[in-house]
Amino acid sequence: MEFLVVTPAARPHVALIELNRPKELNALNLQLMTELRDTLRELAQHDDVRAVVLTGSDRAFAAGADIKQMLGRTAIDMVKIDQFSIWDQIKKFPKPLIAAVSGFALGGGCELAMLCDMIVASETAQFGQPEIKIGTMPGAGGTQRLTRALGKARAMELVLTGAFLGADEALRRGLVNRVVPVESYREEAFKLAAAVAEQSPVAVRLAKESVLRAHEAHLEEGLHFERKNFYLTFASEDRAEGMAAFVEKRRPEFTGR
Ligand code: CAA
Repeated sequence: MEFLVVTPAARPHVALIELNRPKELNALNLQLMTELRDTLRELAQHDDVRAVVLTGSDRAFAAGADIKQMLGRTAIDMVKIDQFSIWDQIKKFPKPLIAAVSGFALGGGCELAMLCDMIVASETAQFGQPEIKIGTMPGAGGTQRLTRALGKARAMELVLTGAFLGADEALRRGLVNRVVPVESYREEAFKLAAAVAEQSPVAVRLAKESVLRAHEAHLEEGLHFERKNFYLTFASEDRAEGMAAFVEKRRPEFTGR
């Protein structure tokens, strides 16, 4: 790995992935995204890993797709390289992915944070889709996910002017889960990851998939999908254990079966 630092057991059942291209403010070139996809594929297979925290540096989560790498490309180059097919694979990661964001989360960096399931931000975090300022537009979900998070008017403003959104407004509008001082955003992300990691991995996986349906599909389809996955949890030992533990007034012992 050249551009990532991966710690599979950073905390019990929680892995940490750090984007590590500090001089370029973690600009997301193809190699970095390929490494991220491959790492998540591996962590998906690791039964011991139940949640993943994804972070950058205090100064920048990521300042976008690598402009220098894209500079000389034609539209046909972009279609052939199809860099966002890597993002489709990342999106399929079945375990909870928590972004710990400090500093710049711009362009592809904002899109990567929004692709995660939850976001813990430091007070210095700045979100934005400034592609318009370099004559292009978001390409990895920014127009869709930002609009769902912020509503049409504010999202339109950010996408059409390239203005940044500070941590406080991001919290008020529900783009992020928490805002904490820069000294503690990673620890806070680990806490959130730990709270998820103590639940049944089977139920968490199915619930994550279902919440994403509410976010990404029409309501009727989302309701149907959720009901099916809810019934499916009844095929797991963890569901039986969880309900038994509740009735017996003890803590459940989840095994992932
Ligand atoms: N791609 C490549 N290099 C980048 C980069 C990017 N997205 N963002 C920053 N860098 C590089 C800079 O070129 C600079 O390199 P050099 O030292 O070699 O000159 C280094 O990182 C530090 O950056 P700055 O000197 O610019 O730092 P700053 O503090 O003055 O400004 C910033 C920080 C406001 C984030 C500014 O760097 C910036 O505006 N970056 C570009 C943001 C952007 O437009 N992102 C969208 C990219 S397109 C995209 O993401 C498409 C998509 O939908 C996937």
